[in-house]
Amino acid sequence: MRSLTQASLKPVWVPPSRAVPSLAEDVLAGLFEPPRRLPPKYFYDAHGSLLFDRICRTTEYYPTRTELGLLQRHAADIVELTRPATLVEFGSGSYAKARLLVGACATRQLRPLYAPFDVCADVLTDSGLALRREFPWLAVEPLVGDFTAGLDHVPLRPGRRLLMFLGGTIGNFDAGEAEAFLTEVCGLLQEDDYLLLGADRVKSPAVLHAAYNDRSGITARFNLNVLSVLNTALGADFDLSHFAHRAHYDVQAERIEMYLDSLVDQRVGFRRLGRTLELQAGESILTEISRKFTTASLTAMLRTAGLRIVRHFESEGPLFSLVLAARGDV
Ligand code: SAH
Ligand code: AVI
Repeated sequence: MRSLTQASLKPVWVPPSRAVPSLAEDVLAGLFEPPRRLPPKYFYDAHGSLLFDRICRTTEYYPTRTELGLLQRHAADIVELTRPATLVEFGSGSYAKARLLVGACATRQLRPLYAPFDVCADVLTDSGLALRREFPWLAVEPLVGDFTAGLDHVPLRPGRRLLMFLGGTIGNFDAGEAEAFLTEVCGLLQEDDYLLLGADRVKSPAVLHAAYNDRSGITARFNLNVLSVLNTALGADFDLSHFAHRAHYDVQAERIEMYLDSLVDQRVGFRRLGRTLELQAGESILTEISRKFTTASLTAMLRTAGLRIVRHFESEGPLFSLVLAARGDV
């Protein structure tokens, strides 16, 4: 039986504000026609979210610890400047980063409401419980939904808001998607509201390559897990051992591209779609892009979305950026 605390952390569903393809439609449009691809949001079932957390703890995956370091150093400044009544975090995952901002709020006698928004309901509930244990006074209102489906129905309270999009997840959008998403986020901002954005930086290809090809093979398992998601949701019969993880950094495009390569000629049945997918050995499925930014490309992206940079916190390297942005017209 679920406890009262768990029940109160039951995520509220945020309805889409525009139609987005279903998983079946994404698979039919993306997998059955080359160039084959899948949207990255399907990585994050309960198991995928656990695997992502494990990626964050690998030696090679520097973004998490680097962004956490930036937050440890600057959370006090950020809270001082923004004085939020509500924290809304898109793609919140394990809330490891929100903890630091909530802690900085508490030190200043601020008691904000925390509204994490994620596509994975399990991670919302589990992480909410952990956060409540640490901050028993904290009001947590988990929101479950797809942030690519529009933000019109995100419930927002009056008062100053700090919206957050951390981890470099903005890099998982292509340029057009990122601009569209940030424009929508900008539309949610009132005069005294802010967006805290985490963005990964362009750097040595060797460092990037290692981060997406960790030696313990966790990223490979995370990538392959999307096939298990399709097996469960669409009655597919992918044999994961017939695929290999591949991630490479495209220097020109300034992005990691992550693929699943078919190791054999194979036929994959999709019981619920009544279709069979034919793949040749060596064919690839693009499962994720992860764009890396320069100060110039980051500034330009925000400007196009109607946002201006208020503060820019960079780690050493610089490996990673945390940007505090506000509406450009105020
Ligand atoms: N912010 C965390 C987690 C990043 S992983 C960190 O910095 O570590 C990306 C997160 O975004 C995951 O928790 C995933 O479930 C969520 N996510 C991915 N696509 C999404 C979508 N379309 N809508 C809502 N959440 C999504
Ligand atoms: C969530 N996102 C920012 C991660 C990234 O680095 O692009 C997802 C990830 N993919 C492989 N490793 C981590």
